[in-house]
Amino acid sequence: MTSQNYLSALFSLEGRVAVVTGGSSGIGRAVAGALARAGAGVVVVARGEAELAATVAELTADGCRAARVVADLGTRAGVREAAERAAAVFGEPDILVNSAGINLRPPMDEVTDDVWDATMAVNLEAPHLLGLRFGPGMAERGFGRIIHVSSQQAHRAFVRSGAYGVSKGALESLARSQAEAWSPHGVTCNTLVPGFVMTPLNARLSTDPDQVAALAARTLIGRNGLADDFAGAAVFLASRASAYVTGQTLFVDGEFSVH
Ligand SMILES: NC(=O)c1ccc[n+]([C@@H]2O[C@H](COP(=O)([O-])OP(=O)(O)OC[C@H]3O[C@@H](n4cnc5c(N)ncnc54)[C@H](OP(=O)(O)O)[C@@H]3O)[C@@H](O)[C@H]2O)c1
Repeated sequence: MTSQNYLSALFSLEGRVAVVTGGSSGIGRAVAGALARAGAGVVVVARGEAELAATVAELTADGCRAARVVADLGTRAGVREAAERAAAVFGEPDILVNSAGINLRPPMDEVTDDVWDATMAVNLEAPHLLGLRFGPGMAERGFGRIIHVSSQQAHRAFVRSGAYGVSKGALESLARSQAEAWSPHGVTCNTLVPGFVMTPLNARLSTDPDQVAALAARTLIGRNGLADDFAGAAVFLASRASAYVTGQTLFVDGEFSVH
């Protein structure tokens, strides 16, 4: 067996179909690109048409199979419609990545009903509803991969975690419940945990060089995260290689979380 064949048997996503929410920006875009380049047909889902189109154009130009679904995952109807439209492109997905997320950042004593509802809808309820829609089918077919993108704020209060941290803590619990439900049938459910990653989500914090340097200094690696840092971990969790890894949280954070 050549090393190429060996690596393909472990990690190739050839013939798989993936749906990546938030696949038009930041971590989701990097993950969508990684899964597509590893062989999966990838459907990226978000609201912004231009960013989605740019993502699909980049992947298609690279010889990948990619398509987009414009959708607002902030409502139940929006999530359900997005799921049907995504599944109609390349067929029912083998891999679901929930990277779409919002962080509205009001301090805890200023969290309005609207902020709470919007945060829970996108960060927690959409991953739950998409799991409900796709998980049982994956289980029936005997293979599936569900990957959530949580946050170190699921584990600690950090620059006013507020409702955001709550949603991410629950998202990690959701992964464990999904793992309990579907892992016996070949569907693994895991969570990637970023630390501080330089993406549009952190546009405001990223413009403060002192903050950026202070956050980098909190990691053992000595720098803040980049979206591409998630590529390898995502391919691993989406591939055959991770068949015995489920219900886990994998910190991709330069060790931000440990000290
Ligand atoms: N960057 C970090 O330091 C960091 C740290 C911890 C956790 N995370 C988590 O990592 C994930 C990705 O974040 P990122 O940093 O890559 O952020 P990002 O660049 O802002 O990407 C967020 C993505 O979610 C989509 N999205 C947001 N609201 C949506 C909605 N209502 N319906 C559909 N799509 C929606 C956005 O597209 P549209 O706006 O066009 O809809 C975009 O594609 C998030 O879950 C975030 O909480 C990030």
